Amino acid sequence: MKKNYNIGVFDSGVGGTTVLKRIIELLPNENIIYYGDNGNAPYGEKTIKEIQGFCLDIMDFFMMNNCKAVVIACNTATAASLELIKEKYTVPVIGVISPGAKSAVEASTNKCIGVLSTPFTAASNAYADEIAKYSKTAKVYQEGCPELCPMIEAGWETFEDRETIIKNHISKFPRNVDTVVLGCTHYPIARKDIARNFCGNIVDPARETSVALYNTLKNSNLLSDSDTKGKIDFFVSGDKDKFRKVAEQFLGFEIKTLYRIEK
Ligand code: DGL
Repeated sequence: MKKNYNIGVFDSGVGGTTVLKRIIELLPNENIIYYGDNGNAPYGEKTIKEIQGFCLDIMDFFMMNNCKAVVIACNTATAASLELIKEKYTVPVIGVISPGAKSAVEASTNKCIGVLSTPFTAASNAYADEIAKYSKTAKVYQEGCPELCPMIEAGWETFEDRETIIKNHISKFPRNVDTVVLGCTHYPIARKDIARNFCGNIVDPARETSVALYNTLKNSNLLSDSDTKGKIDFFVSGDKDKFRKVAEQFLGFEIKTLYRIEK
């Protein structure tokens, strides 16, 4: 039965595990296929055509592997490809930007919102456009951070200059910004260092994304009817060991099935 098909979750690498963690908490009995495209990371400095090409390849992989719904657990891929993917595939597809925008507007008192993201997401204006749907008067400041994703993929805590880099990006926001969105799914892995340098609200779109997924599955009558814990299979297109190390530390459990896709 389609209800017990998989949910496909993808990112350019390990960042989407921050969304996966929330999905597992809310929907523990679902079977999930996680695809970390770390052979092509970072997406954040690629062209829209390149990113769309990666996304369509991953979607084809999910369709071949019985996915009933897909979560684009990557802001950059959401900004570049959500509309295109929705046009081309019939399965429900959830991105992270709309849930992030909604959470930010709810969290902010003065509606002055900063967004830390990849350079691609910042240049796309996707957060400002989406936040405008929830608040007409909100002011949005989008800061592209080219260094962060590669550092997080390689092991965030091994970099001594990490705090200086974070400080520098946060200092670009005006002082009245009361809410910062982690507009790249890698950034919750660096959340402690971000919180040390920003004392307002920090919004991680992951939780709201898992709620959007739950509602979509429910409305489409696609929630799993299994009463046992779901299976999670991991696939990467690049280095397995680096992925495993960072993902296991963040997820807090041992990854049992991890495969490398040969291209
Ligand atoms: N995790 C990603 C995001 O949410 C992409 C990072 C990258 O590959 O540059 O945007």
